Amino acid sequence: MGDIYDPQFVKAVFDRCSDRYITFSLICSFGFTERWRKQCVAAMPALPGGGARGYDLMAGTGEVWPHLLKRFDDVGAITAVDISSGMHRRAMERLHAHRAHRIEFIEDDVLASDLPPESADFVISTFGLKTFNPEQHARLAALLARVLKPGGVFSMIEASDPKGWWLRPLYLLHLKVVLPLIERTLLRGAQDFAMIGTYSTNFGNAAEIAAMLRAHGLEVKFTKYFFGCATGVAGRKIAPMVEPSAK
Ligand SMILES: C[S@@+](CC[C@H](N)C(=O)[O-])C[C@H]1O[C@@H](n2cnc3c(N)ncnc32)[C@H](O)[C@@H]1O
Repeated sequence: MGDIYDPQFVKAVFDRCSDRYITFSLICSFGFTERWRKQCVAAMPALPGGGARGYDLMAGTGEVWPHLLKRFDDVGAITAVDISSGMHRRAMERLHAHRAHRIEFIEDDVLASDLPPESADFVISTFGLKTFNPEQHARLAALLARVLKPGGVFSMIEASDPKGWWLRPLYLLHLKVVLPLIERTLLRGAQDFAMIGTYSTNFGNAAEIAAMLRAHGLEVKFTKYFFGCATGVAGRKIAPMVEPSAK
């Protein structure tokens, strides 16, 4: 197997998964992914003003948009960034046709993208952190610090390893044994969903990313969800103090 963190490798995994991703994600997480997306949106500090524009990084099927648009119904535009157009195309047809006027799409490796500096009032990302290694997380943290406008807000969440939780062995059994088994028996796939289990256990949790974001001067809150089975970071880019003009 090649480098599982090579963006082209990751793209191929998700291109192959895109047909079944939504069903798989909902059923195999017992509905937790939906709950965590909602909590990720709830954790984001309030958006500045009406008509805010921002990015959904590693947007996939746009599963977070209904939650985002429910909390902030005056969002002006969401630019979805994803390396796999398969995920996006399918989602736009099936789920989001009625909100298409507020969705833009950039098909790109987010780490290689040239999103303009200070172009976002918000950045959201759900379950898009695990397919990056620590060096890529550092680049993602730098990207966030660059694209957010001063005062801009963010929230990101990822399934994590609940270290120290007494039911952790059961959770790992689910990720490493049950998911691959479901895939082999029900989905007849090519190890793609099993890969998602591997990425999740390698990921650990979002604490390191929290530290990287803080190092860029962002205000960050780290949160554990459901005994640490998911973790998230949320916060804002601090707006510089405006000096009162000298008289
Ligand atoms: C697990 S899915 C999450 C999708 C969605 N945000 C959700 O809540 O279900 C991860 C997504 O990240 C995308 N992705 C992975 N690496 C990427 C990269 N380097 N640049 C952009 N998107 C990437 C994949 O194509 C996939 O759609």
